[in-house]
Amino acid sequence: MPLTGSLRVNGSKNAALPQMATALLTDEPVIITGVPQLADIRSMGRVLEELGCEVGFAQANYSDDPNKRGLGQSITLRTTDESARHARYDIVRTMRASVCVLGPLLARRGEARVAMPGGCAIGERPIDLHLRGLRALGAEMSMDSGDIVLTAPKDSAGNRRLRGASIFLGGPFGSTVLGTANVMSAATLATGRTIIESAACEPEIVDLATMLNAMGARITGAGSPRLTIEGVRSLHGVTHEVMPDRIEAGTLIMAAAITGGKLRLSNCPLDSMAAVLDRLHEMGVAVTPIGPHEDPLRAECEVSAPDRLRPVMVTTQPHPGFPTDLQAQTLALLTLADGHSVVTEKIFPERFLHVAELTRMGARVFRQGPTAIISGVDHLVGAPVMASDLRASASLVLAGLAAQGETTILRVYHLDRGYERLELALNAVGARIERIKDHDLNIDADAATAQSLLAAGSPAG
Ligand code: EPU
Repeated sequence: MPLTGSLRVNGSKNAALPQMATALLTDEPVIITGVPQLADIRSMGRVLEELGCEVGFAQANYSDDPNKRGLGQSITLRTTDESARHARYDIVRTMRASVCVLGPLLARRGEARVAMPGGCAIGERPIDLHLRGLRALGAEMSMDSGDIVLTAPKDSAGNRRLRGASIFLGGPFGSTVLGTANVMSAATLATGRTIIESAACEPEIVDLATMLNAMGARITGAGSPRLTIEGVRSLHGVTHEVMPDRIEAGTLIMAAAITGGKLRLSNCPLDSMAAVLDRLHEMGVAVTPIGPHEDPLRAECEVSAPDRLRPVMVTTQPHPGFPTDLQAQTLALLTLADGHSVVTEKIFPERFLHVAELTRMGARVFRQGPTAIISGVDHLVGAPVMASDLRASASLVLAGLAAQGETTILRVYHLDRGYERLELALNAVGARIERIKDHDLNIDADAATAQSLLAAGSPAG
């Protein structure tokens, strides 16, 4: 069923997470508005509470009304106790992004102890570059019981304070987003100047730099591979509205595209989506901005899709290249294109767990190493499928919308980590997706709260 109607894009999860950690850099209140209501945001709140931060969520009046959707919640954070230094394993392991407390903790408290995060479903995820950057700022590092312990050097007055430095932060897969966030945040309070070469250029880094500058930091070059940070003595509180989520926007556009629908999106960060819009255009999907908009990161646009998509080549790359976080959703789209497509994953070469599940729905995908060759089929067929990570779950939801018959997506908690009730948004524009307890599906659930999504596709032809 083609999706039609209007939706507002939510605030960005990946921008909000490192922004929450900046509360550790000051004892004044840090208020972030427009934050989506997500499991990962709540987990970050818990990490910060353990580190002496008071965390208040002013819930948006949650509503199924698609016009109210996306207004988000505001979070007030205030550090009142700076004695804790330790982000424990049982918290870090549930959310890898909690590693972004490392830089702020070290910079302000002179010491940080953070459990080494393990791998995750999308592959091995080292933090060697984060550590390289923080050590270049003078930190001493050791390991203790699986924790990384970092200590800042003493300055002439005997206080522990990082020292500005020139740092190359590139790795075998290019720049690192959270690594850049960590080192940039830490350098704001260091003595002297820090230059980060091969910094991540993602718009979430620009948003973080804007917020830090509003707190009194002196960062220039955000959005380019060279960041310059002049260290300051202290930072103050701030109120900051988080940027809209370009990955959610892309996912909604693709939901319209895979159903041959017509969707109007507001609060859409089109300006940060050039590579995605380019590939969509090649597939035959028109994304047309509506009217002039003051802020190109909060634009309004109309999406319209052809009956049959054209095949394309897609390679994921650091920004401004095609984002890895939209690879799985794009691959779902291409399973229904008119011909052969090639998707190459250059950021997380193992991030293909969705392929086996899409194959269960009738997709024809041949994968070799970081490359998948997709031969478009006429139609997909609904099936029970397993979500393995956040973006893979989203790709299965998209496939389920277009498939003939019913698709059950198990382990939907992955989806809830990064999409605020995606099924409510899609249902508001014509989808038919139901959330059910696994218990009611007669599935052997490993937790009483386990839930699945049942997506009704088109009638079997
Ligand atoms: N890498 C290293 N060493 C490091 C850090 C990264 O080799 O110290 C490698 C990674 O293994 C990967 C590449 O560098 O091959 C890029 O990783 P990056 O550090 O940029 O990833 P991240 O900062 O941990 C963020 C997003 C991810 C997104 C990636 C890439 C957040 C909270 N997470 O992760 O988002 O995929 O950037 O754009 O911002 C998601 O939202 O689904 C998600 C996984």
